[in-house]
Amino acid sequence: MKTSHSYPYFGPDGYDGLDALLQELAPSKTFLLVDSNTANCLSVFVPKLAQLDGGFEVLEVSPGEESKSLEIAANLWSVLLEYGADRNSLIINVGGGVVCDLGAFIASSYKRGIPFVNVPTSLLAMVDASVGGKNGINFEGLKNQLGTFTQPNFVLIDPDFLATLPQEEWESGHAEMLKHALLSGTRWAELLGIEPAAIALHHIEQSVAFKADIVREDFKENGKRKILNLGHTTGHAWESYAAVSGNPCTHGAAVIQGLHVALMLSGLQDEQSALAQRYPWQGVAEEALQPLWERQLQDKKNTHGEVRYVLLEHLGRPVWDVEITLERWTAAVLALNSAS
Ligand SMILES: NC(=O)c1ccc[n+]([C@@H]2O[C@H](COP(=O)([O-])OP(=O)(O)OC[C@H]3O[C@@H](n4cnc5c(N)ncnc54)[C@H](O)[C@@H]3O)[C@@H](O)[C@H]2O)c1
Repeated sequence: MKTSHSYPYFGPDGYDGLDALLQELAPSKTFLLVDSNTANCLSVFVPKLAQLDGGFEVLEVSPGEESKSLEIAANLWSVLLEYGADRNSLIINVGGGVVCDLGAFIASSYKRGIPFVNVPTSLLAMVDASVGGKNGINFEGLKNQLGTFTQPNFVLIDPDFLATLPQEEWESGHAEMLKHALLSGTRWAELLGIEPAAIALHHIEQSVAFKADIVREDFKENGKRKILNLGHTTGHAWESYAAVSGNPCTHGAAVIQGLHVALMLSGLQDEQSALAQRYPWQGVAEEALQPLWERQLQDKKNTHGEVRYVLLEHLGRPVWDVEITLERWTAAVLALNSAS
């Protein structure tokens, strides 16, 4: 029943599959991890699973990136201990990328690893964060510095959850779908033009299938999987800099900034201009250049103190481990500033 490299189950089949998994695992205790927004999703989720009749505990964290912290993780481990959770206990993460990343991290490290299931409720978590087995928390103001590669036992994608998703969160998920379209070279123009609310199940399936194929080839990100970081070198730096500057943005908004930079560095002006029509570049103030660069030096893809980028030779042809110097990166950012 364990999803092989995490290809998810969709809609009604997903609920049947998850019910069967619950029966097979017969967990000693079941925990549903939510944030205070996604707690509302439980009224959709719980009644569809007969096996949850046996009872469960709800663990709730505050919404937002701040919950991906060592302090919150430690609180959750303490609560698991208090409830007597053992190796046969199960955590079901019902939420966006924050809940999935956090819940998967605490599950993969508690007692050296207990089973967990991802039930993504945001578009971003459906097309990206819930699939692929990466998890983690932030540390010292830097994104995802602590974490593991551990596949969930099951991923269930139910687009019905999207009915309550705020507009800016739709756009955030759209950003990761655009990243997949640039990498795969398929449906870039169609996806760029689509209104987030018009995204259909087949768009989600296609985006997930692209990611799942890459992960299947290179689970531990020794090579090809690095391409999934397109837009994330500047993106993660932008996201953490925005947060400490008191002006936090969504993960997807930061990825859009990163995609602008990656397209500019790739010399793909047409694609960058098309992206700017839909999601304009947010100008970078001069005093932000150095702190953004310093954050990029901490990026996990780097080696030997060099900043390594994913670029595109052309649409659908990514290259990775491209060394980018401070001078080249600054020139790209300044060019974007003056073009906007
Ligand atoms: N592990 C991975 O491979 C991977 C990949 C991409 C992103 N991520 C991580 O994912 C996180 C971003 O995920 P996200 O954008 O889902 O953020 P999120 O989990 O913070 O969700 C965004 C907001 O939407 C709310 N929400 C979620 N589902 C909802 C619903 N159905 N109805 C109403 N509100 C809902 C949440 O409560 C939150 O306020 C980042 O921490 C990022 O690093 C991880």
